[in-house]
Amino acid sequence: MLKFITTFVLLVPLVTANEAELQERIDALTAQNKRLVKTVQILEKRITNLEQKGIKHNVPARRQSDGPWTFSYRRDATRQTFKRNDPIVFPNKITDLGGGYDNTTGIYTAPHAGLYMITCSVLADHNSPSSPQLHASIMVDGVAKANVFAYSENGSGTGHHRDQGSSTIFVMLNQGSRVWVKVIDQDHVTVGGDRYSLFSGYLLWQS
Ligand SMILES: *[C@@H]1O[C@H](CO)[C@@H](O)[C@H](O)[C@H]1NC(C)=O
Ligand SMILES: *[C@@H]1O[C@H](CO)[C@@H](O)[C@H](O)[C@H]1NC(C)=O
Repeated sequence: MLKFITTFVLLVPLVTANEAELQERIDALTAQNKRLVKTVQILEKRITNLEQKGIKHNVPARRQSDGPWTFSYRRDATRQTFKRNDPIVFPNKITDLGGGYDNTTGIYTAPHAGLYMITCSVLADHNSPSSPQLHASIMVDGVAKANVFAYSENGSGTGHHRDQGSSTIFVMLNQGSRVWVKVIDQDHVTVGGDRYSLFSGYLLWQS
C-alpha cells in the first residue's frame, strides 16, 4: 500500500506534464549524460597515466650542473721536499666528482662560481737539511687566504717527531678561480705522506 502511494505521487507530475516538455528534458539529460560519460573516460585515462608514470613524473631530471662538485686528494708517498713558493701536490685521489684538481701541478680550478669549502692538512716530517717548521698558505688566485703550520723534530727512533697542521676556509670562487697550497717562509720543507696530508674542496652553493 505504501509502495503504491509513493509510485503514484512520483508519477503524478510526469502524467500531468506536457509531452513535448518531457521529451525536451529527456533529450537534455541524455546529452548531459553523454558528456559526463566522456569526462569520466578522460579522467580514467589521466589517472591511469599518472599511476603508470608514478611519482617520477613530478621530479625534474637531475642536471649535471647540480653537482656534487668535490675533490679530495692526499699524499701517500712517505716524504717529499718542497722549496719556498712551491705548490704542495697531493697526487692520490680519494674522491673526485666534477674534476678541476690537477694532481700533477697541485692546482684546483673551480668548475663553477659559488661558495666553496676548502680544507687542507699537512704533515711536517723534518728530515735534514729541510726546516723543522712547515709553513704553508691556502692560495686563492694568488692571494693567501689562510696559513697552516706544523713543527717536526729530526732524530732517530723515538727522537723523531712529526706534526700535522690544518686549516679550513669558506670562500666565494669565480668559475676558473685557482686554489692551491704553497710553501712559505722556509727554503726547504719536507711534507710527509702516509695519508696525513690532504687537500679537499666542496662546492656548497652555486651562484
Ligand atoms: C693522478 O691521478 C691519476 C688518476 O687517479 C693517477 O692515475 C695518477 O697516477 C696520479 N698522478 C700522480 C702524479 O700520482
Ligand atoms: C736528521 O735525520 C737524518 C736521518 O735520520 C740524519 O741523517 C740527520 O743528520 C739529522 N739532522 C739533524 C740536524 O739532526
